[in-house]
Amino acid sequence: MPIRSILAGVGGYLPKRVLTNDELARSVETSDEWIRERTGICQRHIAAPHETAAFMGTAAARAALADAEAATDEVDAIILATSTPDQAFPATALRVQAALGVTHGFGFDVAAACAGFIYALAIADGMIRTGQARGALVIGSEVYSRILNWQDRGTCVLFGDGAGAVFLRAGHGSGRFDRGVLSTHLHSQGTLGDILYVDGAVGQREKSGHLVMNGREVFRHAVVRLAEVVDEALAANSLGRHEIDWLVPHQANLRIIDAMGRKLGLPAERVVITVDRHANTSAASVPLALAEARGDGRIRPGDLVLLEALGGGLAWGAALVRM
Ligand code: UT7
Repeated sequence: MPIRSILAGVGGYLPKRVLTNDELARSVETSDEWIRERTGICQRHIAAPHETAAFMGTAAARAALADAEAATDEVDAIILATSTPDQAFPATALRVQAALGVTHGFGFDVAAACAGFIYALAIADGMIRTGQARGALVIGSEVYSRILNWQDRGTCVLFGDGAGAVFLRAGHGSGRFDRGVLSTHLHSQGTLGDILYVDGAVGQREKSGHLVMNGREVFRHAVVRLAEVVDEALAANSLGRHEIDWLVPHQANLRIIDAMGRKLGLPAERVVITVDRHANTSAASVPLALAEARGDGRIRPGDLVLLEALGGGLAWGAALVRM
């Protein structure tokens, strides 16, 4: 039987500090009502100085390894998605490798903004299928609080910090009923780079930059592109909408999530939602949502889960996983 990546463990980490909409409304012209109505967000977690992408990624990775009952010597690859790395280099993945005490294999970072986790999952899955790794940590870890312009009410209310991780283990399977990653689907459109970006980087000038977004445009593209990629994932596996047990979407805006749920004909209780409490944690949002729904027993072994995300690039993608 062909090699397949089994999603053996999931974990998450959120900073202790919670910032509510009401607290934000004291420093920028906004209101709890506006933020809830337009986005579904009620609060977000904000990292303390020591809670960097590597620190949070390590905590999430440890939780995923514990969930998988995996020892660190099973970790051949660490692929970490982030737009807010601790340093230009070494890769944040390698800081995590050191913190975990992993002394073999390899690691690297992936930059695909909010779609980063789906991209990293696709890469790890490919490496496992081709025998380059037998165990892979796939991590999304972000500290967007450090790239937000806290005076810009159009963006600062939307994001939060956190990390999520999965541990993939090589197994065997074929067809849509066996466990593992069934397929991944990646897309990008570089010509849309200017509707969501960070206006600086270490390679450009001294300024590290702030997130800039044309929210309305991103919203418009998100609804169309995510619907397309969901159809693509279903068609690639000859699956009907009704065969999906859970939608674990990127958590940017409740209105986008609801539109995807309706498209799939899923009742609201089959769509995992964390945006109300986490806000948009970019590459961390999908694994954090997965960790929550696995941890509380909603998602069970054998369930078919559809993951999707879109963000700056534009970059977007989807993955189908039999748990
Ligand atoms: O993860 C990456 C992917 N990102 C996304 O998917 C985000 C996609 N976009 C969105 O979620 C939404 O477009 C937003 C939540 C960002 C904005 O919602 P919207 O319904 O598109 O609002 P808008 O940008 O059209 O703004 C409506 C009004 C504007 O005022 P005027 O021009 O109508 O007078 C804004 O200035 O709301 C105003 N506004 C605010 N008011 C209070 C914008 N931000 C705020 C705010 N509080 N925080």
